[in-house]
Amino acid sequence: MEEKLLQAMKEYYDANESDVRLFFAPGRVNLIGEHIDYNGGFVFPCSLSIGTYMAVFPRPHTDRVRMLSLNFPDKGVVSFDVNKLEYDESDDWANYPKGVLNEFAKLGKQPGSGFDAVFYGNIPNGAGLSSSASIELATAVMWNEINEFGLSMTDLVKIGQRAENDFIGVSCGIMDQFAIGMGRENHAILLDCNTLDYDYSPVELGDYALVIANTNKRRGLADSKYNERRAECESALEAVRTKKEVRHLCDLNAAEFQEVKSVITEPEALKRAKHAVYENERTIQAAELLKEGDLHGFGRLMSQSHVSLRDDYEVSGNELDNLVEAAWSEDSVIGARMTGAGFGGCTVNIVHKKELEQTLGRIGSEYTKKTGLEAEFYIAEIGPGAKELKPVKEGDC
Ligand code: GLA
Repeated sequence: MEEKLLQAMKEYYDANESDVRLFFAPGRVNLIGEHIDYNGGFVFPCSLSIGTYMAVFPRPHTDRVRMLSLNFPDKGVVSFDVNKLEYDESDDWANYPKGVLNEFAKLGKQPGSGFDAVFYGNIPNGAGLSSSASIELATAVMWNEINEFGLSMTDLVKIGQRAENDFIGVSCGIMDQFAIGMGRENHAILLDCNTLDYDYSPVELGDYALVIANTNKRRGLADSKYNERRAECESALEAVRTKKEVRHLCDLNAAEFQEVKSVITEPEALKRAKHAVYENERTIQAAELLKEGDLHGFGRLMSQSHVSLRDDYEVSGNELDNLVEAAWSEDSVIGARMTGAGFGGCTVNIVHKKELEQTLGRIGSEYTKKTGLEAEFYIAEIGPGAKELKPVKEGDC
């Protein structure tokens, strides 16, 4: 990986290997707690060992930034002035790192010189494993390190989220950027999105594996539907506030929700609010069960989460439902659900390791029979959060 990036740095920018700095930010998978980060709820994501690599060559005597992605070589090198950071549709993927630089500038963190960069990511594109937040955090860590701005990782997480909200125009919550910035090897993060308090939980699955299954249906409608769901939650919240003082939907527990729900008169908004409240309770309980080693209980809650996302939140779809149902029909699968924003992308599953390949083979054929698409399976490895990669010096290993 590093070789590939260094070679491209030399080829495109004639960069000296010893001056190149390397950064990495992971992708993420959410175990449970879906579509409630922006409702002030608890989420339970982990950072993956796959992610975005970024090689950078600082250029002290120029204002130009040049960037290339080895994932989109046809788009070529994108170049812009480090002091003129404007959204430009033709810059395509490069708007993500540009948006991040712009957020630093808005905080008065102006570097005054440009750089050359090459990106390469091994997160499957459009799979809902947060390749965009991964690019954002790789860029944020890089900019903070190179300029020695001294911002904390939580600051960088917020910068990534604001770039996505304000520069890209997707009103995402904080979960993805937080999981990617703050991730820890073999741990999930129980994050309270209301206060940003968090706790690491070891993910020890014993005889079971964490399997991510890609529907290979791209998350087409996701962005517009995402913003629509947020608006529906806002409208439910406004209605609740006529009866009870709350900051977020997830301030309500199930009993309180039952008491106030009659004020939500729009049937859609009522369903969205119900999902938010119960998903929050499931997430808190699931983290507890994982701590106690009750994997079956954890898996049951994952499956209930899918049903709620399918029927009440309505962000699943034919492909995700078929892939989840095929998993549910296997005795060795103890939990399966869609993960991320929905409308395509991936499912997350807890599957017994015995005869794992055969199990996944059967799930795959059932899925193809129903949808005509080929699913892909990855055994999820939970890796560390975003960071600078130090070159391995001789004698280190
Ligand atoms: C996307 C968003 C997150 C979160 C999830 C759904 O990944 O970026 O903030 O809302 O969808 O849980």
